[in-house]
Amino acid sequence: MSKVRRIALLTSGGDAPGMNAAIRAVVRKGIYHGIQVFGIQKGYEGLIHGEFIEMNLGTVADIIHRGGTMLMTARSEEMKTPEGQKNAAAQLRYRNIDALIIIGGDGSFRGAQTISAQGIPVVGIPATIDNDIAGTDMTIGFDTTINTVVEAVSKIRDTATSHDRTFLVEVMGRNCGNIALQAGVACGAESILVPEMKIDMDEIIMKLERGNQRGKNHSIIIVAEGATSAWELGEELRKRTGFETRVTILGHIQRGGSPSAFDVVLASQMGGKAVEVLLEEKSDQMIAYVNQNIVPKPLEEAYGDLKPFNMELYELANQLAI
Ligand code: F6P
Repeated sequence: MSKVRRIALLTSGGDAPGMNAAIRAVVRKGIYHGIQVFGIQKGYEGLIHGEFIEMNLGTVADIIHRGGTMLMTARSEEMKTPEGQKNAAAQLRYRNIDALIIIGGDGSFRGAQTISAQGIPVVGIPATIDNDIAGTDMTIGFDTTINTVVEAVSKIRDTATSHDRTFLVEVMGRNCGNIALQAGVACGAESILVPEMKIDMDEIIMKLERGNQRGKNHSIIIVAEGATSAWELGEELRKRTGFETRVTILGHIQRGGSPSAFDVVLASQMGGKAVEVLLEEKSDQMIAYVNQNIVPKPLEEAYGDLKPFNMELYELANQLAI
């Protein structure tokens, strides 16, 4: 029988649709195995300041389909300090917690390793809309966000067509172009600008003019927030082509909403696997999605090398936008 009897979990960093489904899976799988599960509110901030609640079947009822995180989340500066890290581990020890599950991004996993360095096992579940975590093909929330962007762009397309305009749609992703690339392909954008690739203004203009000559009366350019300023780019395009441009920053709408079925299933599988891994008394693991399998991997893979950019999809997107 496993020595793990009491576990805690928290959500950390930017929220992502599907986090609630992951919380539910951890709690129910834990209870199924006779483990006591504690939720920590507001991420590492709540951990450092002792904001624990005991979870039961009822606590996680009716959350599977809800966006956001019922445990709330935070970006904790205190957790970056040795003092904060010491207090975080002390809070867990004080409550006899055997292990901690962290649902979040790579920054949150770094915090986790400072806790495991103090002797408390940790497992990470990758959840961020950015899908920028190395070692896993997908993170919880990414699929929902792509669908949100596609829905928004199809609305923008209606007005773009009616007014014969070029729209620049800025999407999130921090320093990673995965949201822009995937959503750009999914909505058939004319150009997709990502931080991983150099911006070629001549090519963007060539595509716009070529479309215009064919009688195309609208264009959509997807701009990753980390690539460039959509405002400046829009102004430059207007000056150089004479086309009427508009900019839409989608912003935090991309983080909200009910998770897609894919994200709920992914979150449920990852939550379940995280509990199994802890029951096997392993630590410093991340639950990854690799070739459609849910597998544990060393946590440090998440923040070692950068996640490789999908060049093949990027090139295809350019070929399809002729
Ligand atoms: O990491 C998720 C994310 O939504 C990024 O895409 C974005 O750059 C950032 O978080 C925004 O953070 P905040 O909500 O703190 O403004």
